Amino acid sequence: MASISWVLRLSFVIILTLLFASPTRGHSGSQGYLRRALESLQKPASPATFSSTTDCQKWLRQNPASIVYNYGVNDTLSGAVSLRDCLIRDEAAQARQNIQEIQISFPLFSQSGGEQQPLQDIIQMLPNLESIRSLNLQMSQKNNSRSIDFVNDSGNPVVPFIECSSDSLVYDGGESDERLDRLYDALVTCPNIRSLSLSLSQGGCSIGDTRRSFNWKKGDHFPRLENLTLSGYDWDSRVNRRKPSNAEHWRASMDWSKLKRLDFSLPQNSFLDTFRGELGGLESLILRHKLGFWGDEETLCGFDATAEALRQNYTSFIAALPPLRELSISGVGQLLNMTPILKTHGSSLEKLNIHEFEHDCRYETGNATWVRPVLSVSEVEKIILSAPNLKDLTLDVYRSSNKWPIPMLKTLSKFPHLARLTINFDLEDPRRSRYAKRCYVSDWVRDEYCTIHELMEPQLNQTTASEIFHTIQQYQAGTKLQNITFFAGDFGRRDGGGLRLIPHYEWNRPVRYDCWMEENTIKCAGQRDIDFDDEDFL
Ligand SMILES: *[C@@H]1O[C@H](CO)[C@@H](O)[C@H](O)[C@H]1NC(C)=O
Ligand SMILES: *[C@@H]1O[C@H](CO)[C@@H](O)[C@H](O)[C@H]1NC(C)=O
Ligand SMILES: *[C@@H]1O[C@H](CO)[C@@H](O)[C@H](O)[C@H]1NC(C)=O
Ligand SMILES: *[C@@H]1O[C@H](CO)[C@@H](O)[C@H](O)[C@H]1NC(C)=O
Ligand SMILES: *[C@@H]1O[C@H](CO)[C@@H](O)[C@H](O)[C@H]1NC(C)=O
Ligand SMILES: *[C@@H]1O[C@H](CO)[C@@H](O)[C@H](O)[C@H]1NC(C)=O
Ligand SMILES: *[C@@H]1O[C@H](CO)[C@@H](O)[C@H](O)[C@H]1NC(C)=O
Ligand SMILES: *[C@@H]1O[C@H](CO)[C@@H](O)[C@H](O)[C@H]1NC(C)=O
Repeated sequence: MASISWVLRLSFVIILTLLFASPTRGHSGSQGYLRRALESLQKPASPATFSSTTDCQKWLRQNPASIVYNYGVNDTLSGAVSLRDCLIRDEAAQARQNIQEIQISFPLFSQSGGEQQPLQDIIQMLPNLESIRSLNLQMSQKNNSRSIDFVNDSGNPVVPFIECSSDSLVYDGGESDERLDRLYDALVTCPNIRSLSLSLSQGGCSIGDTRRSFNWKKGDHFPRLENLTLSGYDWDSRVNRRKPSNAEHWRASMDWSKLKRLDFSLPQNSFLDTFRGELGGLESLILRHKLGFWGDEETLCGFDATAEALRQNYTSFIAALPPLRELSISGVGQLLNMTPILKTHGSSLEKLNIHEFEHDCRYETGNATWVRPVLSVSEVEKIILSAPNLKDLTLDVYRSSNKWPIPMLKTLSKFPHLARLTINFDLEDPRRSRYAKRCYVSDWVRDEYCTIHELMEPQLNQTTASEIFHTIQQYQAGTKLQNITFFAGDFGRRDGGGLRLIPHYEWNRPVRYDCWMEENTIKCAGQRDIDFDDEDFL
């Protein structure tokens, strides 16, 4: 236990140091809050906004001196065309005289672009226009025959607008509730959205200053999402005991039967209770490591009765889903019981991924001999029988005793339709250790914190990767595997949406080898994990 809390504390200190040492990283909550408070004091009277649904006559009655132009992707959807058509009207004569300033607003969740002919037209028709405020000044300077001030307004940007021009929204959170609320606005405003990717993590140093859930409003409806990718969403919390939980709110606000792909970090039990029987159209389920406090990835490392009950709840939830084409389970610490899962999904499954990280629960529980759970040969044989249509398989494969696990490789060769295989091997041998050459702790704790494991032998390299591919192919009767990817170690952990904690010692670099068949010969290309460079924090 001691060693974990030590590692965590060290990382904590490093992260705090980074946050305070470099103010440019300050998207963080408290700083953001201060900035916003200061900005709101300086803000002038708000300019007149115009969207594609604004009533022109009512809008003209405001007789604004400053207007907002939506610089969107599609000038019909952004309201730019209707704004121009409104200002062209005879009854807009007075308004045209009055307008002195245009503020440019950019769309929040999409890339703006296009010709912006409406903007050119509007500039021409406003005789008293003095300035255009924008973050990006390149746009319309080219035909500025009059003297109009172009103000680079990066210090006080105009509120971005929502344009329903894309069917997918991506939000990488951890910044502010305000931005999350804008995402919510986009979801209730744009019925065409089919894909949402939302990642929430702790934003700054003041704990609990980010919400990790939507601020639900009664009667709001979300579009019929088909793809949903979520990290760190808080399904449990509710405003008070009598109010619905976030899970219940979300269930009521969306047609979940249209969802085809759900990719999310291990949900709380309230999700399972709320959504049992609701996901009738699901084809792909991806259950990932939980998102930790710092945006890192946490495995469910409990091994007590509660953790076991939660695993059983995951199992029964998955087994009650409609037959899936794709299933991925990782970060559950101990393998789920695959028997009921395969009974439901075996015949429809084309893609299966069962994966745990090499180290997680060893650090988490302080149990130095913990090894990641893997499927046995007989369990893999059961998968071959119940899921004969698998085309793509990812598994963790155990090895020890200085040899490759030939019986398992032989078994893996028996999947009749497999085209792609991914094998995760251990990188390190927990039974052999050595002193790290570089270790950033005081001498008196060196013995405790500076030993690292030796690499597992035989090592995974270009030669051995190609030999394993060859071995598997030798045993194959019919169809030949086309591609195998090998990993040794927790390669590229950040890909899953999390961060690796900065280690205080040099670490064994995970490796990855991609092998494929080319004109009847095996080709392999390898790479070492470069996510974290030791030199970065020297
Ligand atoms: C802009 O959106 C409208 C309404 O959805 C659509 O009819 C039009 O084709 C779009 N224009 C472009 C250039 O995408
Ligand atoms: C506007 O100002 C910001 C910061 O002051 C600067 O980074 C940006 O390049 C400027 N934009 C233009 C188009 O000059
Ligand atoms: C510039 O503005 C004038 C009207 O003032 C117009 O006739 C001309 O076509 C414009 N040129 C461009 C390149 O937009
Ligand atoms: C949903 O996700 C799948 C798989 O990533 C992708 O092929 C598909 O285009 C996505 N659909 C939408 C509407 O984004
Ligand atoms: C498992 O599900 C049951 C039934 O919904 C629930 O009562 C129990 O609390 C769940 N267990 C855990 C550990 O979440
Ligand atoms: C440590 O982990 C190993 C392998 O997972 C297990 O057999 C052993 O019981 C664990 N020891 C403790 C003290 O939890
Ligand atoms: C690859 O690994 C094997 C087994 O550890 C070793 O014998 C061989 O020398 C290595 N080859 C290269 C090129 O590093
Ligand atoms: C197999 O690998 C080759 C070369 O990297 C790649 O072009 C091909 O798309 C892969 N096939 C599959 C099914 O992943």
